[in-house]
Amino acid sequence: MKNLHKLLLGALCMGVAMSATGAERTLKVTDRYMVVPVSHKFDRVRLKVAIPGLEDMPVVVRIPQDGKAEYYTFRDMSAHKGKKITITYPDGLKGIDLITFKPEIPDEASIYHEPNRPQMHFTTRRGWINDPNGLVYYDGEYHLFYQHNPYERDWENMTWGHAVSKDLVHWQELPTAIHPDSLGTIFSGSAVIDYRNTSGFGKKDKPAMVAFYTIETGGKGQKQGMAYSLDNGRTFTKYAHNPIIDSTDKWQTNDTRDPRVFPYGDHWVMVLNERDGHSIYRSDNLRDWTFVSHTTGFWECPDLFPLPVDGNEANPLWVMWGASGTYMIGRFDGEKFTPLSGKHRFAGGSLYATQTYNNTPDGRRIAIAWGRQGHPGENFNGQMLIPTELSLRTTKDGVRLVSKPVAEFEAIAKPVGSWKNLTQDQANEILAKQADTTKPLRIRAKMRLSHATDAFLELNGRRVIDYDLNQTRLNGYHYSPQDPTSMELTADVYVDRTSTEAFFDGGLFSDSQERDMKRGSSTPRFGGNRITIEELDIYTLPSIWEK
Ligand code: FRU
Repeated sequence: MKNLHKLLLGALCMGVAMSATGAERTLKVTDRYMVVPVSHKFDRVRLKVAIPGLEDMPVVVRIPQDGKAEYYTFRDMSAHKGKKITITYPDGLKGIDLITFKPEIPDEASIYHEPNRPQMHFTTRRGWINDPNGLVYYDGEYHLFYQHNPYERDWENMTWGHAVSKDLVHWQELPTAIHPDSLGTIFSGSAVIDYRNTSGFGKKDKPAMVAFYTIETGGKGQKQGMAYSLDNGRTFTKYAHNPIIDSTDKWQTNDTRDPRVFPYGDHWVMVLNERDGHSIYRSDNLRDWTFVSHTTGFWECPDLFPLPVDGNEANPLWVMWGASGTYMIGRFDGEKFTPLSGKHRFAGGSLYATQTYNNTPDGRRIAIAWGRQGHPGENFNGQMLIPTELSLRTTKDGVRLVSKPVAEFEAIAKPVGSWKNLTQDQANEILAKQADTTKPLRIRAKMRLSHATDAFLELNGRRVIDYDLNQTRLNGYHYSPQDPTSMELTADVYVDRTSTEAFFDGGLFSDSQERDMKRGSSTPRFGGNRITIEELDIYTLPSIWEK
């Protein structure tokens, strides 16, 4: 829903009403942050920000024309200190003088401590985020680029925000990595490390990090672009001959996007969503791409990767998915994906636009998804779900994808207690003692049903676990346990301030939901038809933002 809304919004904003003609204001960059005030009472206006040495940057903002900012957003201008920038804005627009420079982000001390700030999920300091982009490991850092509107808590101004982590748990936010330019805004994509310098962008002893993204032209279709970095993703230089792929006419659509690039033997592969499915392109130098095949049945945010089946490295199978996380399993020969089965679903709920890491040091297949959760009352929006490790397992239904939190994440959980063979009431008494569910909590439970009906765990008026054995349904999706006669279900539930994530039966299925702490009871409670809790383990987790 939110996704559709976001694209409609984009279409509206790119066409009409917002040409930046008229007045100009020149300002000296005196301090680290350019501070941009926001008021949602006012319509969006288009500005042009000209920074010497860089291309003019279009920016769409809600300037408080009554002088009253609801909150402040920012751009880190450290790299441009002392320069004079020029802002072009529509004639007669009031409030431009509220854009100033400050050594600190306004209300900086409150960031990461706000009431609805997730404590175990990545969020950005200010503004909107959606898809994870450019997931790549390099030189001790896991890079997380992401779709970001730095200037408002709603979708607009798509840029690549940037954060890095050494352990997939704690993240450091860095300045915006890729900004919109005269070609358009910067939609989703991926990044690789060009160790063999096939692109020629690298320097001696310094391979280039090469990012691929979609240029949303706002009227002339979606084209693919690239940019490279020689400073570990801190700054990017756009390729002078962008776009590298323009297939709008061929596909007779504006929907050609989200390039996912990875190495295959001696060549490079790009999976690109084009109209009705995922296309494969190949390249020897990352600059010139040739279309080679197409698999129909997917929408947005492709990924394609090999995984051993049951740990057997000798005969991997390939997984291809689209934005919803529904996937096919098949073979891939470097040019063509041949599906063997599908589509299957490994996760439900708020998960969207999952991407896996390139170049992990230990070969693990690590994924991060966008969690489409709101954060009411806050000046940021959207979050990333817990990073997970993926594997393929032979199940009674065939080979299936398994997804569970990475070991690094599981390791931060601190045991509170462990119980066995509890009645529903006994388990609920124990849960009631974990009163402060504003702090991160993990509840691992093995539930046993006494009738083939239902078992659940409720929190804030929603069923975090919602098992209906009669309907063979788990959290609204078809789910049949490995032993179809089983009366048991295991669940590993992570409770954060604005969301919950539940991993079932060792990761065979997972579900993420929005949580509203103002609704119903903040004490989790088991329920169902006289269920027992055969095992209960409770953990607390430190905030990932704690230093
Ligand atoms: C998926 C998506 C992508 C697109 C991006 C724009 O959420 O629609 O297909 O590149 O978001 O922000």
